[in-house]
Amino acid sequence: MKQHVPLIVGNWKMNPATVGAAKKLFLAIRKALGRKRLNVHIAVAPPFPFLSELERLSPSQRISLAAQDVFFEAIGAHTGEVSLPMLKSVGVTAVIVGHSERRARGESDHEIYEDVSTLFKSNVTGIICVGENERDDSGNFYSVVEAQLRSALRGVPKTKLKQLVIAYEPVWAIGTGAVATPEDVHEMKLFIQKILTDHFGRAGAEKVRVIYGGSVKKKNAAALLEEGQVDGFLIGGASLKAKEFVSIINIAHEYEKTSV
Ligand code: 13P
Repeated sequence: MKQHVPLIVGNWKMNPATVGAAKKLFLAIRKALGRKRLNVHIAVAPPFPFLSELERLSPSQRISLAAQDVFFEAIGAHTGEVSLPMLKSVGVTAVIVGHSERRARGESDHEIYEDVSTLFKSNVTGIICVGENERDDSGNFYSVVEAQLRSALRGVPKTKLKQLVIAYEPVWAIGTGAVATPEDVHEMKLFIQKILTDHFGRAGAEKVRVIYGGSVKKKNAAALLEEGQVDGFLIGGASLKAKEFVSIINIAHEYEKTSV
């Protein structure tokens, strides 16, 4: 049985190039969404400099604003970092933590744990990314995901599980077009839920959304929801095309409507 309204997050990464183009993309998404009431939670995560401009374009909060990262300290001499109070002050309600593109640039499990600990002292949603670099025949990738997850979960109190989202993003599927099969995604979802249950108990684990990211497109979205049984998506490339992004949102809405 499904527990959650689907969550669809567009991770714009380091795109587009200018604030003008960001506003244009945001407005195009808003327009493509139309007026229909959708049973889907929608968020976009633009680059930091565009957040406050986009906040002004989203007075109804139909599209929530997410950040692509956060630094665990609140203020001070930390050149180049952005804190949670700063993000909250420009309307951010969710933050992506531990994306593989940041891990690849040296972000460690410990730093991710620190960011998570700060985030879960607030009421902001935390989208924690986990995922293996590659798959092997002997299933070692499960232990990679488990280690990333267990380290981050130490920073999440049991009282805040409704604001916890785990994004399973296998690195080999990001930006490559090589999407994981719905069966693989389902197996990993069950594995993640097992670890969550271990950590928080069954009732706690059921509060947590598990979403998928990695070459999600409108052509594979339905199967990933139906067979993969994920609670939503973290979308890179396809979130930069308003129509494609909104098609995926509509697919999630239809799925939510028809399934029990
Ligand atoms: P793509 O959808 O471009 O594969 O990116 C996935 C991702 O990394 C989202 O965070």
